[in-house]
Amino acid sequence: MDIESIERIKESALQKIDGAKTIEELDQIRVAYIGKKGEITLVLQSISCLRPEERPKIGALINKVKRQIEAALTQKSISSIKEEEFDETVPEIPVRLGRKHPINQVKEEIVGIFSQMGFGIEQGPEIEQTEYNFDLLNIPPDHPARDMHDTFYISDNLLLRTHTSPVQIRVMKKRKPPIRIIVPGRVYRRDADVSHSPMFHQVEGLLVDKNIRFSDLKGVLACFLHQMFGEDVPVRFRPSYFPFTEPSAEIDIGCILCQYKGCRVCKNTGWLEILGAGMVDPNVLRNVGFDPEEWTGFAFGLGIERIAMLKFGISDIRAFFANDIRFLSQF
Ligand code: DAH
Repeated sequence: MDIESIERIKESALQKIDGAKTIEELDQIRVAYIGKKGEITLVLQSISCLRPEERPKIGALINKVKRQIEAALTQKSISSIKEEEFDETVPEIPVRLGRKHPINQVKEEIVGIFSQMGFGIEQGPEIEQTEYNFDLLNIPPDHPARDMHDTFYISDNLLLRTHTSPVQIRVMKKRKPPIRIIVPGRVYRRDADVSHSPMFHQVEGLLVDKNIRFSDLKGVLACFLHQMFGEDVPVRFRPSYFPFTEPSAEIDIGCILCQYKGCRVCKNTGWLEILGAGMVDPNVLRNVGFDPEEWTGFAFGLGIERIAMLKFGISDIRAFFANDIRFLSQF
């Protein structure tokens, strides 16, 4: 066996590959040349008959030819598959576009309205210090409000935040007034039924400046609610209690499901509770080093799921997090 005969085998293989018309033909050529008993394979096996000094050169050449034949086979099979099997008349598989999750849609709408009013967006950690989640918000360790929050504790002083209010503290600690922020984010509570999920979303709001009064709070929140639910929707402020605001209020809108006539969702009152709010408690301002004689402010908090449920007429909060495409593709 010599260089010329190897070259001849190569030429004939490449020619046959070039002329092959089907995948089956290519398979036969593969077997005939580089299969177990193929020509190239046999030549490679007979190398031991050569004189030792010839072996490296001839061996290298055979291996090179083998690789060239393999490459030619691969190349040809790709192009013949294209010709044989690509049928441009077959209808394409429709591309299904993803959608924004309904919670994100509502969040973006809320954030959009407050951005127009000049509120900046802030974020804080979901794993929070007990001090920020409770103490500095005027909720001392023995305060009954701590029970209401059904907290997931990580250790004595670490927890999954139960509300977005601790971000108020974080922002006020790092920045001087005027402050005008909203904080969308995830919060966690040990609670699960048709209207409670252990993870849900809130938007917190905080405005601190000179001479901020309850009427400013009323104006900003009424403006928000009218943009969110329609110019005509009735809005009412009810006295309430939160440890971090004084005075505090809960804000209702007329029930958009029954047009204020009374239904199951509004418990026949004609009103839906939408927001918690109030004037920032002087204790909270002192906790972050602000003088309450100089600065005043208001804060508010709302639940995104609740608004999304009302807006889209969803009766079970768990539907948001079940990741069922049939549910999600409706929005
Ligand atoms: N953090 C309260 C909650 O999770 C909601 C809230 C109420 C936030 C009143 C506020 C506020 O900023 O002023 O129930």
